[in-house]
Amino acid sequence: MNIEFRNVSFAYSKKKRSLPVLDSVTFEVEAATRAAIVGKSGSGKSTVLDLISGVLLPQAGQVVVGGTDLALLTQPERAQFRREHVGYVFQDFRLFEHLPALDNVSIAAQIAGVGQKVATAKARNLLERVGLGRRMEHLPSELSGGEKQRVSIARALINEPVLILADEPTGALDAEVRDDILNLLAQVSAESTLVVVTHDPYVAEHLSARIIRCVDGTVLA
Ligand SMILES: Nc1ncnc2c1ncn2[C@@H]1O[C@H](COP(=O)(O)OP(=O)(O)OP(=O)(O)O)[C@@H](O)[C@H]1O
Ligand SMILES: [Mg+2]
Repeated sequence: MNIEFRNVSFAYSKKKRSLPVLDSVTFEVEAATRAAIVGKSGSGKSTVLDLISGVLLPQAGQVVVGGTDLALLTQPERAQFRREHVGYVFQDFRLFEHLPALDNVSIAAQIAGVGQKVATAKARNLLERVGLGRRMEHLPSELSGGEKQRVSIARALINEPVLILADEPTGALDAEVRDDILNLLAQVSAESTLVVVTHDPYVAEHLSARIIRCVDGTVLA
């Protein structure tokens, strides 16, 4: 699924004040390629991912994903687009605190219409692959930061998304686990588009990802 930003401007509004984040940004990520968004803290990297997933809509310009201008879809259609096509690894994980790791992962498949048995089997398999075979019954509060991060990665991958958006997916991991996760991401993105946000040049290099730089409201692709 390819991604096109056409003169995209975005500002957050807070108490009637506007905070401009992106100013007429244009770039493209071709289908089935990998891109790494890099840039300083606060430069707008997570905002770019939220625009790609249609969680946010731009005030000007178009975000076109898989040939569709996301602003032309209704809100339920955008939610459906995310469920069907997007796997999102959030910077802050966003796990359900009252559900064990296994259910946190399998629920994403169930929401997409997969039966409970198959969803559970897929979730088990993915948790094994991220090295959490022995943590399936743990609640998020019983997991380390790096373990929570890996649960969120497993959840993002369970529906075999054609578009994977990963916000600092290895930020909480040590070097060894980081390599395992990068290998997994490389493997699952062989035929998908992967956009990863990272502070770590090693991540972009290991994934052979094209670098997209966020600098002061502009994006240099
Ligand atoms: N919901 C929001 N309301 C208002 N301002 C916001 C909101 N979310 C982010 N911002 C502001 O927008 C700017 C860009 O935020 P964003 O989260 O995209 O940065 P980032 O590049 O991902 O940073 P980091 O590397 O620290 O995660 C920041 O200055 C932030 O304070
Ligand atoms: Mg961020």
